[in-house]
Amino acid sequence: MKMDILLGLQWGDEGKGKIVDVLSPEYDIIARFQGGPNAGHSLEIGDFKHVLHTIPSGIFRKDTVNIIGNGVVLDPVIFMNEVAKIREIAPEGLKSLYISKKAHLILPSHKTLDAASEKSKGLTKIGSTLKGIGPTYMDKTGRNGLRVGDIMCSDFKQKYDFLKSKHQQLLKQYDFEVDDVTNEEEWFKGIEVLKSFQLIECEYFVNNAINQNKKILAEGAQGTLLDIEYGSYPFVTSSNTVSSGACTGLGIAPNRLGKIYGIFKSYCTRVGSGPFPTELFDADGEYLQSKGHEFGATTGRRRRCGWMDLPTLKYSIMLNGVTDLIMTKSDVLSGMESFKVAVAYDVDGIQTEEVPFNYVDKLMPVYKEFKGWKEDISKIKSFNDLPLELKQYIEFVEKETGIPVSIVSVGPDRDETIIRK
Ligand code: GDP
Ligand code: IMO
Ligand code: MG
Repeated sequence: MKMDILLGLQWGDEGKGKIVDVLSPEYDIIARFQGGPNAGHSLEIGDFKHVLHTIPSGIFRKDTVNIIGNGVVLDPVIFMNEVAKIREIAPEGLKSLYISKKAHLILPSHKTLDAASEKSKGLTKIGSTLKGIGPTYMDKTGRNGLRVGDIMCSDFKQKYDFLKSKHQQLLKQYDFEVDDVTNEEEWFKGIEVLKSFQLIECEYFVNNAINQNKKILAEGAQGTLLDIEYGSYPFVTSSNTVSSGACTGLGIAPNRLGKIYGIFKSYCTRVGSGPFPTELFDADGEYLQSKGHEFGATTGRRRRCGWMDLPTLKYSIMLNGVTDLIMTKSDVLSGMESFKVAVAYDVDGIQTEEVPFNYVDKLMPVYKEFKGWKEDISKIKSFNDLPLELKQYIEFVEKETGIPVSIVSVGPDRDETIIRK
């Protein structure tokens, strides 16, 4: 059996959590491969709503194994709070939650460093979620990090103190005051919670599972345009959000990959700073923001909204080797007279479909306009029953990208999903 991947093709928040939950009955294992609690993955099942940050989105299916892979960075406090909430509502799932010993730990001082770095950047700040993601990955690549497996070592506290004192030295360069004593107490409580879980050699666990014909779905966090290599650098996150990140983040060889689901919204959003070629500052942008309830699931920040951007979508499809597309939030376009899609960029009078190295200043999107539809589509169950205008839009995306749109999401609920055969 091969491992499938589901990942975001835009700037995150494409609806990954919802769709992973929908697909999870088809899989034995759901595995997060990168990112950390900067992620906010929302699930809606009837009246029940839940946002996951570290724990994979298969956790509410009692027969599903969930794995936090080695590419993830884990904050023990956030993890402890997530576990406490899930224990109240669906404790069965926690019995089959496994955590890679090689996942790196976010220390309270990583969060302080994140905040200090952002403050020092002033107007050029990244707009980080301030969860300590960047400093933790810096310590990982700098070979200073603490890993989940280290919590079982007798000298763990010494290792912690050593890294913390390194951070304190670094913080002296910034004019930044914090009291981290209370944070530290909570953090060590979180470490105790972590110890009660099954800590695994993730690479053996997942490869053995594949050898036993188990089906695995790797769940991405963030989106391709936030990838550390290929995103709109430096306004990116600090991990590889692309499909190759699932190989390194779980210990799976590329020849064991199966389907690669690429998920995108019918328009675009971005939270935090950085370029956004199709961003809207008018009534259409307001409409998308309010009808789509576009507020960050982790920080509550208002998401910037704009039209769908085909050059970046094609770029993301190329980088990931997408085999199947998933369009979400198509219902949000209902009620618009018309809507637009960027099909190319004009850079200094020259049209291109490629994403340029520096696309901040001179880039003008070239738009194609589509006719909208009026009806509410959230209760529609079959592709054929969708409004003609939406079907034409989907067919246009398929023709342009050469990839089938195999799932259309028409609302936030698990049931508001059309899976095309
Ligand atoms: P993720 O980070 O990719 O998992 O996405 P988020 O959970 O951060 O943001 C997606 C938001 O859109 C959540 O509030 C979802 O409940 C919601 N959502 C997902 N799919 C749809 C859809 O098809 N229509 C509507 N209206 N909302 C959706
Ligand atoms: P999910 O998994 C949307 C953005 C932040 C910021 C930049 C860097 O829910 O799609 P970081 O905290 O990583 O240092 O922030 O990346 N960002 C996200 N935007 N969805 C996310 O995750 C994000 N995770 C980080 O807003 O611009
Ligand atoms: Mg999100």
